[in-house]
Amino acid sequence: MKFRQEIIKPEKPRPIVLIGAGSIVKDAHLPAYEIAGYRVLGIYDLDETKAKTLKKRFNIVEKVYSSLVDLIVDAKKNDALYDLALPASEHKRILEQLPNKSPVLIQKPLGETLEESKLIVELCRRKGLVSAVNFQLRYAPYMIAAKDMIDQGLIGEVYDMEVFVNVFTPWHLWDFLYYLPRVEILYHSIHYLDLVRSFLGNPKKVYASTVKHPKMPELASTRTSMILDYNEYIQARIMTNHGHEYGKEKQQSYVKFEGTKGAIKIKIGVSIDYPKGVPPTFEYFILGQESTKWKELPLKGGWFPHAFMGTMASLQNHYINPSQPLLNSTEDAYVTMQLVELMYTSSNEGGMNFNLIE
Ligand SMILES: NC(=O)c1ccc[n+]([C@@H]2O[C@H](COP(=O)([O-])OP(=O)(O)OC[C@H]3O[C@@H](n4cnc5c(N)ncnc54)[C@H](O)[C@@H]3O)[C@@H](O)[C@H]2O)c1
Repeated sequence: MKFRQEIIKPEKPRPIVLIGAGSIVKDAHLPAYEIAGYRVLGIYDLDETKAKTLKKRFNIVEKVYSSLVDLIVDAKKNDALYDLALPASEHKRILEQLPNKSPVLIQKPLGETLEESKLIVELCRRKGLVSAVNFQLRYAPYMIAAKDMIDQGLIGEVYDMEVFVNVFTPWHLWDFLYYLPRVEILYHSIHYLDLVRSFLGNPKKVYASTVKHPKMPELASTRTSMILDYNEYIQARIMTNHGHEYGKEKQQSYVKFEGTKGAIKIKIGVSIDYPKGVPPTFEYFILGQESTKWKELPLKGGWFPHAFMGTMASLQNHYINPSQPLLNSTEDAYVTMQLVELMYTSSNEGGMNFNLIE
């Protein structure tokens, strides 16, 4: 069986200008654009040496800008798309400076709080920006294949989605996370919340608990359990523990779908033994097929960097032809941010106190 693993690429892609030359641009944005054959007109970072290093490393980068104003002038001339990959607190300040109606892809999360996301969404509306958010997990080749398989009805009605992560995450690689009030759900599980929404829509009711790790007291909570209830049959669960420091052997990171006619289990390799990672896998089981057993679908890539082609392709397609839907729009990302907020509220205020009855 063959399944789609990438979204339709724009026929005549517009060039891209990058704002931010940090680690995610080096590890994912530029490698993805290299594979997709996108032209990168230029890159700007407050720390110019970082931008210069990336230009040396990636042939597709044509120019390093020393000022945001110069980058905007060139972007306007060339009808380029803006690609922002900055600390979340910087996005609003940069968006204010872009010309009205510009197309822009913004790195997740959409602000550090719900209030900040609301201000960003309002700013994008006010300026008429064609704005999208880089929630790319839904565009990973294995997720596109899962969607295709589900849309073809092969696993029937999906009633269960499970995300399970038991890994050792080197949080020290992102020093900006230290001493922030929110870490795991806002910076990591947010991808799974967005993913679940892309398959099942918005839940009716949620439950969450997120707690700290005793060896990481300077970080906010890094172990999370979340339940999303849809109706009496449909549920999604997300469980993460980033403190499993007992070797690679028992580390796990998967997404499982169960339907009335079959199931899909995807290993998300990038989170295991991070940052080395292991190859991802896609297995499926369809009831009633001649030899009913788990089969494997060969994959054309993983989350990093391949999924980053999808978020950019989606914005390009919509910008070039507005009748194409923009599934990762800022408006949609704002709903994912609302879910993040609700999960923190549930963790802080939900739950039943256990009082032992003598
Ligand atoms: N899977 C994902 O989508 C994913 C993964 C990692 C990080 N991120 C997000 O990407 C963003 C960047 O993360 P990173 O790991 O690359 O961080 P980083 O610290 O490595 O890079 C950020 C860069 O932004 C530059 N910068 C800061 N303010 C600026 C400004 N006003 N103008 C120009 N440049 C400025 C800094 O000099 C730095 O080079 C964050 O919002 C993070 O949450 C997303």
